[in-house]
Amino acid sequence: MLGDEKILFSGMQATGSLTLGNYLGALKNWVNLADEYTTFYCVVDEHSITVRQDPAELRKRARNLLMLYIAAGIDPEKNCLYYQSHVSGHAELAWILNCFTYMGELQRMTQFKDKSAKHADNINAGLFTYPVLMAADILLYQADVVPVGKDQLQHLELTRDIANRFNAIYGDVFTVPEPYLGKLGARIMSLQDPAKKMSKSDENPNASIYLMDDADTVMRKFKRAVTDSEACVAYRDEQPGLKNLLDIYCACTDKTPEEAVKEFEGKGYGELKTAVGESVVAVLTPLQNEFHRLEKEKDYIDKIIKQNAEKAGYYSSKTLRKVQKKIGFPEKIR
Ligand code: TRP
Repeated sequence: MLGDEKILFSGMQATGSLTLGNYLGALKNWVNLADEYTTFYCVVDEHSITVRQDPAELRKRARNLLMLYIAAGIDPEKNCLYYQSHVSGHAELAWILNCFTYMGELQRMTQFKDKSAKHADNINAGLFTYPVLMAADILLYQADVVPVGKDQLQHLELTRDIANRFNAIYGDVFTVPEPYLGKLGARIMSLQDPAKKMSKSDENPNASIYLMDDADTVMRKFKRAVTDSEACVAYRDEQPGLKNLLDIYCACTDKTPEEAVKEFEGKGYGELKTAVGESVVAVLTPLQNEFHRLEKEKDYIDKIIKQNAEKAGYYSSKTLRKVQKKIGFPEKIR
């Protein structure tokens, strides 16, 4: 670990249930990244408290998320899967970086504007400085690349600005991270409105397939999926509902759109929906079985959590110490 390999960092919130879109678009493609990068996947529980959380629920969701990652094939011996709150360096570096970030920069963040509109009764300072904690997450590990969705690019750009600003004053302290541009996963759309991305926060439960949905639920949701009245299976932008169904089918079966279209030539939409549903069930069933197996392996999961927090703590403390020294904090007497 951490030889000449580049470093990849990503964070995820444990709020909401992961969807098929999260799996096919991200997780599935992350499984092999550890061959090429030293990877950190952090469950960002400190970010979660910028909106009110039920404590027991937060704890449970955070652990479930970690187990889902493992169930999806991300090997916790090769990838550092850990909780943000277990590594105190995140909060410590965030404080320092707060002093290198301007109010005006944070005011421009679209996620802050959206979230403060949504939680008008709780516009707390943490919600405002959320992107600074995210910058700390990334810079603490000297990450070279960060796989993020489009909605997080603005935060990543701010992270780069903060890193460059700090480096300009103190010398090359931080690696300036880039968005991860490797092989992109499928972009899965809502089953009820194919113009919208499938989202874990969609209010209509029929719009998303959740990773823990059982087979009946999956089949039912595909039966109700929005298509069109062309009555012809084709892969084209003019038929976005069908295109989405075929994208899902291809991502689950590793077929190309051409192969899939050929397979369903002259067949009805009903038949296509059944086949897509079955291909999804075939992917989700082993993942769910593995998740349920891990749920019973309490000691093993605890050991992973402990080991990875130590690993993350070790690497992050190197950066933190360097930063503390640069800005003039007195060295600890050891
Ligand atoms: N803000 C990200 C999101 O909501 C989560 C996140 C926190 C993150 N820290 C990060 C993502 C660091 C990438 C890198 O999706």
